[in-house]
Amino acid sequence: FATRHVTRSVFGAAQRRAFSATAANATKVAVLGSTGGIGQPLSLLLKLNPRVSELALYDIVGGPGVAADISHINTKSNVKGYAPDAAGIKECLTGAEIVLIPAGVPRKPGMTRDDLFNTNASIVRDLAKHAAENCPDAAILIISNPVNSTVPITREVFKSKGVYNPKKLFGVTTLDVVRASRFISQLKNTDPANENIVVVGGHSGATIVPLLSQSGYSLEGKQLDDYVHRVQFGGDEVVQAKDGKGSATLSMAMAGARFAESLLKAAQGQKGVIEPTFVESDLFKDQGCDFFASNVTLGPNGVEEIHPVGKITEFEQGLLDKCVSDLKGNISKGVEWAKANP
Ligand code: NAD
Ligand code: LMR
Repeated sequence: FATRHVTRSVFGAAQRRAFSATAANATKVAVLGSTGGIGQPLSLLLKLNPRVSELALYDIVGGPGVAADISHINTKSNVKGYAPDAAGIKECLTGAEIVLIPAGVPRKPGMTRDDLFNTNASIVRDLAKHAAENCPDAAILIISNPVNSTVPITREVFKSKGVYNPKKLFGVTTLDVVRASRFISQLKNTDPANENIVVVGGHSGATIVPLLSQSGYSLEGKQLDDYVHRVQFGGDEVVQAKDGKGSATLSMAMAGARFAESLLKAAQGQKGVIEPTFVESDLFKDQGCDFFASNVTLGPNGVEEIHPVGKITEFEQGLLDKCVSDLKGNISKGVEWAKANP
């Protein structure tokens, strides 16, 4: 319910209110990779959010240009773009309460998210170092792929600096739930805004596990297989359609803005804010997965309560078993790389 409320609030009334409302609290939000396909529309949506008082935009190219453009929008928040140097990133991050990181390369057709590891691991590691040094208490939202590995890398960086707080590190998996909800609404002819399908696991292929039964749906046979495949490989649908020009950017910007909005609501005192996200979790630690995505209640200090997977069907259990087996490899790959490449 909370999530549905968030969705409407971000993309309905809040946009209209944005022109007159005063934010309850002053909150600085930073976007690292703000010039990119995700970074630009994400920054735009954050500029429309009255809960954001300061928007700090950093990229290795074009941060100030995007900031100058967005800053003309007549909402109250101040927008600043920072130079791509040590002083720029430091100033960008100082005082930030939320840091969204969509910096990194996207897939091309034929690639898996894991194929991005070699490039994106070091980008995320370096940005995480800056965050650990300049805003150690901020909530860190990792969008850069492969999320299943870049989140563990970020943990290792924060640990090495002695500032790791598991309640404040999030892999953004919101897009999986957005897709799962949209796709079921297309099959069932329902309003997608009223759908909130639970999706657990990680963020790539078989690690994405939609738990349709928990919403009272029971697809059968090929229809169920096709639905699960579409949720697990929705990202590939976009990669193929963009034909070499990148992956999902606009739907991802919406999903990232929704997650940031939920964190801001929780930080500003709203109760019962629930979002799916990939966090350090005890749920499957005994099976080698230190991180797992599930619904999480958010509070003023970040993660408040990690929801268990709950009742699932035998079919869903099969998906979960495969997920755990893939996911633990992705996580340990990130951890081992970070230890070998500090
Ligand atoms: P993009 O290439 O359009 O943009 C990436 C931006 O990052 C560029 O502007 C680039 O200059 C910047 N950048 C690169 N290195 C940087 C650094 N060291 N510091 C700051 N900025 C840096 O890519 P995109 O389409 O925006 O995708 C970005 C990432 O998000 C990809 O890894 C993609 O796979 C991932 N993604 C994740 C999800 C998700 O659900 N979590 C969804 C879509 C895309
Ligand atoms: C997505 O799910 O759209 C993103 O992870 C981007 C991708 O590579 O598919």
